[in-house]
Amino acid sequence: MYLVLLGVPGAGKGTQARLLSEKLQIPQISTGDLFRYNLSHETELGLLAKQYMDRGDLVPDEVTIQMVAERIRQEDCARGAIFDGFPRNLNQATALDQMTAPHGGISLAPLIHLEDEEAMRRITGRRVCRQCGAVYHVEFNPPAREGICDIDGGELYQRDDDKPETVRNRLYVYYKQTAPLIGYYFAKSLLVEIDGSRPIEEVNRELLSVLPQDV
Ligand code: AP5
Ligand code: ZN
Repeated sequence: MYLVLLGVPGAGKGTQARLLSEKLQIPQISTGDLFRYNLSHETELGLLAKQYMDRGDLVPDEVTIQMVAERIRQEDCARGAIFDGFPRNLNQATALDQMTAPHGGISLAPLIHLEDEEAMRRITGRRVCRQCGAVYHVEFNPPAREGICDIDGGELYQRDDDKPETVRNRLYVYYKQTAPLIGYYFAKSLLVEIDGSRPIEEVNRELLSVLPQDV
């Protein structure tokens, strides 16, 4: 089953994708995480992506689509995957349809709703593990020990693109380029809307309840 999680930056796509990945035993494919992984290893792709991420703009499609195409060809994606942060415009959405078509296409596109103000609050309090990428929030989802990952003891840091001025541009880019995907998936009868303002476990329960049972 291939799922596409939609929602504004900070809506909880990454948090929910991780939980679903554990429960459904299919991988999470986060283009943001893939870019950050490349950046931390100072690859050519990572350094290129950084120029766009620092401004809150989208990384060019040809780079992003090729990266996803390579990831999806790996064996662990044969049963399905949870896309988080991809697709982000119509061009990426049609490319994803082509990539997943041989496996039955996209099963569902849940849209996690959250007001912009609340998204800003979530993003400014977000902390990420340098080692495993686990996501915390200083207030809403704190680690047991401040600044340290519960899973592997890694150091928690604040993303460079989580500065308020960059977040505002990410929201602008979202409404301009990504929001049209809501209509795209609605027209394909794949859109379901989830209230993202509730606690993490509640959002997750609702998501699980709307998933198709037979794929
Ligand atoms: P990306 O990493 O995808 O960032 P994003 O879409 O802006 O989304 P976020 O990671 O900010 O938010 P999220 O919805 O995953 O929320 P999270 O679960 O962390 O992209 C970054 C950049 O990479 C882009 O700007 C672009 O440059 C580039 N890029 C990536 N993909 C691309 C693509 N396809 N094409 C081109 N460029 C691309 O939660 C947020 C916080 O809230 C956390 O602290 C969490 O603990 C907390 N939280 C989560 N859920 C709840 C809850 N229910 N209640 C309380 N707190 C919660
Ligand atoms: Zn960790």
